[in-house]
Parts: sequence; structure tokens; C-alpha cells
Amino acid sequence: MYTPRFAGLRLFGSILCLLLLRTGDARSAESSAQARHINSQRLQATLEKLSEFGRNSEGGVTRLGFSQTELDARTYVMSLMEDAGLEVRVDPAGNIFGRRSGSDQLPALLFGSHIDSVPHGGNFDGTLGSLGAIEVIRALNDGHITTRHPLEVVIWTNEEGPHFGISALGSGVAAGVLGPEILDRKDDDGLTVADWLRRYGQDPSHLTDARIPHGALAAVLELHIEQGPVLEETKVQIGVVKGIVSLKRWKCVATGFANHAGTTPMNRRKDALAAAAKDLLAVRDAVRAETGTQVGTVGYLRAEPGAPNVIPGRVEFPVELRDLDAGKIERMWQSIQQRIAQTDKEEGVETRCEVINDIAAALSDPSVQSVIREAARSAGLSTADMPSGAVHDAGEISRIAPMGMIFVPSHDGISHAPQEFTSWDDSANGVEVLYRSILLLDLRLQPN
Ligand code: HGY
Ligand code: MN
Ligand code: MN
Repeated sequence: MYTPRFAGLRLFGSILCLLLLRTGDARSAESSAQARHINSQRLQATLEKLSEFGRNSEGGVTRLGFSQTELDARTYVMSLMEDAGLEVRVDPAGNIFGRRSGSDQLPALLFGSHIDSVPHGGNFDGTLGSLGAIEVIRALNDGHITTRHPLEVVIWTNEEGPHFGISALGSGVAAGVLGPEILDRKDDDGLTVADWLRRYGQDPSHLTDARIPHGALAAVLELHIEQGPVLEETKVQIGVVKGIVSLKRWKCVATGFANHAGTTPMNRRKDALAAAAKDLLAVRDAVRAETGTQVGTVGYLRAEPGAPNVIPGRVEFPVELRDLDAGKIERMWQSIQQRIAQTDKEEGVETRCEVINDIAAALSDPSVQSVIREAARSAGLSTADMPSGAVHDAGEISRIAPMGMIFVPSHDGISHAPQEFTSWDDSANGVEVLYRSILLLDLRLQPN
């Protein structure tokens, strides 16, 4: 068991840090770019290549976790890892790890993200943190730097979750919060999670072997785009994540009766879509009734049989609620359930909901946050502490290791859309801060 603690900065460490990080103050962007150890063009080239996997006509990508497109992208990313000299392995949950040895017998520093996307997603969500992690390894290779800790780049399986409704699947399994109960979950083609893991070359009966024991990692870091407007609006270059919201997701099915749209009188209908539409607004009302920054979404209504001249007899829809406070999520859900029951009576339908995803809030480790702030400062970059309204794999790994996240600005705050954009300069800043944070953690973390 490894419980990291932060040693006071020793003189040797200080000198090495200064040499490695070439301390910058708040100088121009040009001088911070010159002080970069990572190679921005190399990062851009690999990100552009990755965005060809699943590219759509809108300029974004559809690269769902557990799809052939993602499988092809995984092959490309594994080749980049191998080219960077990493020892690549895939765990039974499909998570890809690339290891670089350290000089000492210490637990690994883990960093990376995901390469799957939402439908019609963008080119930076997950991919910047994934390819940024590989760029950090290349920069260390260029500098002939050996760390004390082994380093592990990770590409987590199926972070987004539209395919099976489970977000942060791979990291959830690694953290021990998901287990074999997910294996039978079916996608729209009738394929199960187990089927997909077999396509990844894994034996699903060994899923729990992907668990990482508590204390087995020195720390986990994830670089990510902010996916909101705050950094750009406040002209801050680096966000230091304080914590990640919790997310709870239900799949609801409203069952009415499919009947002729021309001959069934209005007072004899059991219209599942009319009921689901009311339920959707009930979600919005319940979320708005609370004060705070909680959010709630119904991402789709899937009506069957789906013809203009048939009354919809069955509608499937998800309900997703997010807030830092799990108690508030439960309160909102109680209110939504009451409204759903009322609507069922009014519309003559029956609605059943089941929990399909439940991700607890996650706090960043204060010492890791300090390291990120210091790393940014040394590169002449401004920082702000902020919460994350999006969930992230690092949040799941925070259950078993000290966690930190680095955010970079998202243009116009757009994400989960083809217009998602982070400038190459901001992208490179984030990767440079990741590089410097890894080196600072490598110096400071001490086994207890
Ligand atoms: O949905 C989310 O919060 C994330 O982007 N996976
Ligand atoms: Mn996302
Ligand atoms: Mn993401």
C-alpha cells in the first residue's frame, strides 16, 4: 500500500525544479511559448490525425465508445504510444495503459483521458488530455529525463456513455465502483458490454481484474478542455479543478397504447409521447425550483412505432441530474417522480424508471491542486480554481488515488458539439502544465 505524502521541497529538488521548469513570471505568451518543453506542432499533428476517425460533415466527430470507429482510433493511439517507447497493455475493461519505467521502485503517476465522443461531438473533449499525455512522454524522451516514479499514460474506455448509458465506464471499473453487473447491458444493436470487451480482445469474465487497488497509484492527473465559458470570459489560461459534480441518470419508459391516429378520439388515447413531453418539462421545473447551479436534462425522446399516423405507444427517455450535492439530486428526483405519477394518471400511461448511472461527486487533492498552480505559474500562465460541471474519468480514480485536473479554455464555452474549439496555444499551455505538474509530483511525492 502506498500512501503518498508531500515532502518539503529539498534543496536538491528546488534546484532541479528551477532548471527543469525555467521559472517564468507573467511575461508575454511568446516567452511562455519559448519556455515550453512540449512540442505544440507535434501535438497538433496527432490531434488532427485523430480527428479523422469518425469525422462528420460538420467538422466534428462521432466516435462512440464501443464502435468500430473508436476501435480504429484506439489502434492509432496505441501506435503513438509504442512510437513514444511506452510499454502498452490493455486491461480487461479495455482501458489502454502505456508505461514508462522510473528509476525507483515506486507506484506510477497516472495521466490521460478518453478518445470516445458523444454523437456529433467535437475534436478536443478527451482527445487533448489523451494525446497531450503522449506528448508529455515524447517531451521527456527529448529531454532524456528519467523520473523516479514510473509514468503511465491511460486511455479510458467509454467515458461518454451514450452507447450503453454508462459514463466513465473504464475508470469506474478500475476504481471498483462498477463491476460485472454492467456486462449484460445491451446497446441498440443487441450487443452487450461483454461482446464489446471481447472485440477489444478481452475476456469479460476477468473484468474485475481491471480494478486498481486503493493506494496503488501515486497520483492521477487529467488535462481537459473546460467545456464551459468561464476561462475564456475571465481571460484566465489554466483552470485548477477543485471538484467534479455528481451525476445520476435514469432510463424511463412510458408505455401507452399505439393506435390509429385518424380514428382514435382524443379522449380515448394513451399517448406515451404526450406523457413523456410533460415529464420532460417536469424535469426542467424541478431543477429550476431549487437555488444553485444544479442542472437536469432529458437528452432524447425515442417514440415508437414512430410514424405520423400512429399514436406513440412507447417512449424511452433518459433523465440526467447533476449537482455537487447528492441530497439535492435526490430531492429533485422525488419531485420529478411525483409529477411523472400525476402525468401517468392524466394520460392513461404507465412510466417506469431505472437508475442506469450513478457517479458520486469527486474532490481534487489540495496538494495536487497546489502543484498544478505552481506548474502553471512557472510557465508564466494565469490560473483560477473552479468546479467541473462535466464528469471525468479522473473523478472516478479519485476514489483510489490523489487526483488533480487541469482545464484549458473552450472557445465560446461550446462542447459536445462540432464547434468545440480550443486554440493550439491554449492546448499547448495545458500540455506544458501537465508536463511540469508530472515533474513536480515526481519530485515531491514520497511514500509513507
Ligand atoms: O457528460 C459529461 O459530463 C462528460 O463530458 N463525459
Ligand atoms: Mn464529454
Ligand atoms: Mn471528456
